[in-house]
Amino acid sequence: MNIGVFASGRGSNFQAILDAIQQDLLHAAVTLVVSNKADAGALEIARAHSLPAVHLNQKQYPDDASFASAMLSVLRAHDVQMIALAGYLKKIPLDVVREYKNRILNIHPALLPSFGGAGMYGHHVHEAVIASGAKFSGATVHLVDEEYDRGPIVLQKSIAVEDHETPDTLAAKVLKIEHEIYPLVLKAFAENRVTINERSVWIH
Ligand code: GRF
Repeated sequence: MNIGVFASGRGSNFQAILDAIQQDLLHAAVTLVVSNKADAGALEIARAHSLPAVHLNQKQYPDDASFASAMLSVLRAHDVQMIALAGYLKKIPLDVVREYKNRILNIHPALLPSFGGAGMYGHHVHEAVIASGAKFSGATVHLVDEEYDRGPIVLQKSIAVEDHETPDTLAAKVLKIEHEIYPLVLKAFAENRVTINERSVWIH
């Protein structure tokens, strides 16, 4: 399975996917890394591994349609079969969501459907979780559809929010879980062990 990773930041989830491939836990290849930010750590990681690293930003294109078609061309050129959003902070163009229906995953640092949606990224998520008094948080891998953080959930893992927790300590615990579950979900897709129907996603 050829994976295209989309990331806006440091790329630790991307690194976890590469590690799983290297350790032979995940039989897949990352054939493309895309970032909306030219200086994203994820692009540096890609270059360090001699993987195609593409800076693609809406601002480089006159309109939405040409941006979407540029994205689709680069995905096709690298024979991408599955897209893994790993800290990608931009919306995926609708044409791409449609073309890759049920083949775009995202990882979110909380237990969706809580603490998701617009503005819920990075430390904002963990601050909101602590402020709410929630006793559990965790990470969610879900399919991407036409709305932010709304697609069907594929896998979640939870952890306790301790009394002394700060957004930073919680972020570190959640990130560790993210690095565990993202490769697991990709492995299930690579091995055709995922059944998707209108109401649920089932890993077997
Ligand atoms: C992760 O917390 C992920 O859940 C969120 O963005 C962060 C990306 O971190 N969507 P990294 O760039 O993979 O280190």
